[in-house]
Amino acid sequence: MTEIESVYDLWRTYYGNTRMTRAPGRGFDWNYDSNEDALSFAVSSRRSLPARRRIFLTPSEDLDGVSLVQVLRSRRSVRRFSKAAVSFEKLSSLLYFSAGQTGSARLFGGREAVLTANPSAGGLASTSVWVVPVRVDGLSNMALHVPEENCIALSRDTEFVRDAMSCLQQLESSNAAIAIILTADLGKVIRKYGVRGSRYALLDAGHLAQNILLVAGAVGLTGFSSCGFFDVEVDKLVGIDGLSEVSVYVIYLGVKEECDGDNCTPY
Ligand SMILES: Cc1cc2nc3c(=O)[nH]c(=O)nc-3n(C[C@H](O)[C@H](O)[C@H](O)COP(=O)(O)O)c2cc1C
Repeated sequence: MTEIESVYDLWRTYYGNTRMTRAPGRGFDWNYDSNEDALSFAVSSRRSLPARRRIFLTPSEDLDGVSLVQVLRSRRSVRRFSKAAVSFEKLSSLLYFSAGQTGSARLFGGREAVLTANPSAGGLASTSVWVVPVRVDGLSNMALHVPEENCIALSRDTEFVRDAMSCLQQLESSNAAIAIILTADLGKVIRKYGVRGSRYALLDAGHLAQNILLVAGAVGLTGFSSCGFFDVEVDKLVGIDGLSEVSVYVIYLGVKEECDGDNCTPY
């Protein structure tokens, strides 16, 4: 084990101690749960939320004709939005095509593992998607996306927009219509991959974020991603402990504000 001499050595300690090594005659030195065990655990540890608070997604946008190349070419971070609201159908399409269930795999014991539009290490689906709908037609509560049921589950109905405004720095100043908070269940991934797994959880969140940004472009929205937020406050907002499950990423989305010259600052 490496000694920690200063806080700047933390990354050396972490990366130095989470390298994959060769076990004699065995390939990877692997001492953790099998994929089957880890997947079963992931399936059984899904969040359960009250059914009465579920709203089914209604993805209506036909994206079949949208050119991926065109979407990739035009993706750019936009940090100022018009005050236009976003339709629930558009939000539905955004969630469905970024993170919705697109397949399944049968596990031993008959359980079903959900496969989604976004890849995830071991299929463990470590990232949760929380929607803060500042201006989404027909939606006024913060909600958790539930891919396996093609729905969002409203998490609570208190002063969440005000709370979100105070811990997500760029929510108010950008006029974003939606903030999406990505949280990573480190505990679930570490159970399978050891502490190295926290690297994978961040990669999972990055894949999902990229899907969201690209699908946003495909449905006529723009946005930008941000790691600038007060972790403890965001963890509290979505109700996670901030250690085994952590807030990792926020994506702000809206309708691009028409601007010219100096008003169009990219940063
Ligand atoms: C991990 C990550 C964190 C980021 N954090 C912020 C941020 O806190 N604030 C911000 O305005 N942009 C943030 N961005 C957006 C980048 O600044 C932006 O992607 C970069 O300047 C390139 O511009 P482009 O996205 O238009 O190609 C972040 C991007 C990534 C990938």
